[in-house]
Amino acid sequence: MYLCSVIKQKQFSTISTLSSILLIPSVTVFFFIFSMPLNAQATIEELDWAYAISPAFPPEEDDGSLHSLPGSDGMFTLDEARNRFGPADWYPQDHLPMPPIVAVGREEAGIMACSLCHYANGQGKPENASVVALAPEYFIQQLHDMRAGLRSSANTAKANTFNMIAFAVNMTDEEIRQAAEYYGAMNWDQWIEVVETDIVPLTFRRGGLHIPLEGDEAGEEPIGRRIIEMPVDPEGTELWRNPRAGFRAYVPTGAVSAGELLATTGGDKTIACAVCHGEELQGLGLVPPIRGRSPSYLARQLFDFQQGTRDGAWSPLMDAVVKNLSGDDIINLTAYIASLPIEPQDSP
Ligand code: HEC
Ligand code: HEC
Repeated sequence: MYLCSVIKQKQFSTISTLSSILLIPSVTVFFFIFSMPLNAQATIEELDWAYAISPAFPPEEDDGSLHSLPGSDGMFTLDEARNRFGPADWYPQDHLPMPPIVAVGREEAGIMACSLCHYANGQGKPENASVVALAPEYFIQQLHDMRAGLRSSANTAKANTFNMIAFAVNMTDEEIRQAAEYYGAMNWDQWIEVVETDIVPLTFRRGGLHIPLEGDEAGEEPIGRRIIEMPVDPEGTELWRNPRAGFRAYVPTGAVSAGELLATTGGDKTIACAVCHGEELQGLGLVPPIRGRSPSYLARQLFDFQQGTRDGAWSPLMDAVVKNLSGDDIINLTAYIASLPIEPQDSP
């Protein structure tokens, strides 16, 4: 308002009293201000943290030795643990009996085991998705949207999302149904710890994850306007795919309360999330649960909706929600939503 009135006053005085030398800049400023979008949308650069696109790296050598994890009866070599068509099942007691598509995938169709990336318990990792406790109707719709070319990543460098789409294209309806019912029948457990901070551990990127540097390379840096989500047990997650080791998300100081305001009131920019996602953001029928889920995943989805690369059957309901969100709003919203605690439930 203040700026507007200054410009108007300036125009008035310019037109009435001063030469055209002054008129030109003032008119230019006037048009510049009014041609800017009211609310700048998010950019891919601002959300770089959510993708953690990583350089290619040589895989760790398997020395053939057997390894176990705390509380597991299983012993596996590294190649067994990361077998794309039947990865280690460390804790069979933590989940229901897996259908074949989840346990081993279907190699001749190039479909990797769902449990390789999303884990047998469906808790998933920030670079993929948490698929546990999604309503089967929502889950099925997503794979159909991917198949139909209606759901992909706004960041074309996010290779694993494109792998995921290829799996959806090659899956049978029966495989989709079995995976949806399997993951949908289990509970979502606390998986992300949100920590507000100004300073974060130094990290490097590998396989779409931020991994803290260790030893001589360890250090700290300002967080800036980013969320840095990292495994609580880097080796357990990266090498052994430990499905009991979750993640810590460092978020900028103040992000949680700023996000709470947006999420609960809409704050003139968006719509209160509970209207559709349920009072506790725990999901409501075809509207998915978002409470306590990975902020990196949530941010990528908000950006995909905004960019129109996620435009499935039910995505239009998110149009008005994301239209005016800036990169900062996405940081605040996802910090808050990820910070909401998950009540412990009996597993699976
Ligand atoms: C190579 C790793 C990988 C494998 C294997 C994998 N996925 Fe995914 N999945 C992903 C990624 C990556 C995403 C999307 C993340 C993004 O774009 O932000 C995803 C997303 C999903 C979603 C969407 C979740 C949501 O909340 O909307 C579903 C459902 C899903 N996968 C099911 C499956 C099923 C079923 C299988 C087994 C056939 C499978 N995935 C195998 C990587 C994988
Ligand atoms: C008008 C109803 C509506 C409102 C309000 C709404 N959502 Fe959604 N949301 C949906 C629907 C429907 C979907 C599923 C879209 C699809 O299938 O593509 C969804 C999906 C999402 C997803 C993707 C989840 C996943 O598992 O992939 C995120 C993230 C999300 N919403 C965040 C929010 C946030 C944050 C707010 C509040 C600021 C919000 N939504 C408000 C209807 C809504």
